[in-house]
Amino acid sequence: MKLSIIVPTYNERENLPILVKELKNNLDDIDFELIIVDDNSPDGTWKIAEELAHDYKFLKVIRRENERDLATAVLEGFKNSNGDILVVMDADLQHPPEKILDMLKKINGADIVIGSRYIEGGEIEDWSIIRRIYSKFAKILAYIFVPKCRKVKDPLSGFFMLKREVIENTNLNPIGYKILLEILAKGNYRKVLEEPIKFCNRKRGKSSLNIGVQSKYIKHLLKLSWELKEFHRIIKFGIVGLSGIFVNLFVLWFLTSFIGIYYLYSAIFSIEASIISNFLLNDLWTFRDRRDRNWIRRLIKFNIISLPAFPMQISVMGILKEIFGVYYLMAAFIGIIIVFIWNFVANTLWTWKKIECSATQ
Ligand code: GDD
Ligand code: MN
Repeated sequence: MKLSIIVPTYNERENLPILVKELKNNLDDIDFELIIVDDNSPDGTWKIAEELAHDYKFLKVIRRENERDLATAVLEGFKNSNGDILVVMDADLQHPPEKILDMLKKINGADIVIGSRYIEGGEIEDWSIIRRIYSKFAKILAYIFVPKCRKVKDPLSGFFMLKREVIENTNLNPIGYKILLEILAKGNYRKVLEEPIKFCNRKRGKSSLNIGVQSKYIKHLLKLSWELKEFHRIIKFGIVGLSGIFVNLFVLWFLTSFIGIYYLYSAIFSIEASIISNFLLNDLWTFRDRRDRNWIRRLIKFNIISLPAFPMQISVMGILKEIFGVYYLMAAFIGIIIVFIWNFVANTLWTWKKIECSATQ
């Protein structure tokens, strides 16, 4: 059994020699190759790598001159590797090399093993509160747009191991940093395990994560959700929401003008009627594939989520108009969008949280 370790690099000249040495020491009795994919780093990392390759026979260097992207660099590494088991890790020593051995033990009983910061025993050495919130937020976005990754606690980790079969005959097409997310979305696998890691501080060199990388992440998520038809769900949810407005108005008119009930009492019924019709349509159409056995529980959840819509709409409108002077129709429109986002997110993560994939802890 052979191991291929893929390491994308950009300006890591100080870190690379240390990483290579540590890998050699830790993996002494394992058959492995190390593939460095460097995007023509201005600091000459590729040159250092080529020099190291003279001394270390397990080292292979790929220098790309026309591309600059972590995820596609990893794909390039996959293509040029020949191990049965693949590992992806960073060059900056934030991923502890000795963990590869623990992950190797786990891969026997799994298809993918993730070096995880977010399971018990895992930790992040020294991140500001802002960076932590950012990371959690990015993870929630992944759970919303790529439901298949929901059972994984750290789907955005840059340190993971997989059997080659997982990516064979798949159409991987990632951009940005989150290559693991792409694999979790499109790979052929049954079981995912996580191994706790300590995500250490970067001691030398600078992180390349910047605003461009973050906007690539959003693009990647949208692209994935489109390919996985998850985006279609958002559109369906919107269509159902629109239909609810008509149900609401129709019942209100019917009870008030036809039956003669006081309009504010009618409104209570008409609102609930639209909630129920929205629920039924979403259950039968938008989230048809995500129904668990208990429909009453789903209906109750849907109702609970719909409850804050009214105060939310009113307060967003009030704040926008009174404090920011936004024209009231515009304020109402923004309120509707916010309530829509709330409804979709809460329902996809809670009411219809059941997912079809069999990835387990
Ligand atoms: N080839 C190539 N091309 N490599 C790159 C590029 C690029 O454009 N950008 C970054 N790298 C390399 C770096 O040299 C390093 O080895 C690794 O990719 C990670 O880059 P960092 O800039 O250190 O990223 P980070 O520490 O902020 O992010 C890491 O942690 C995240 C989780 O918080 C990465 O592992 C992410 O994938 C991960 O999501
Ligand atoms: Mn890093």
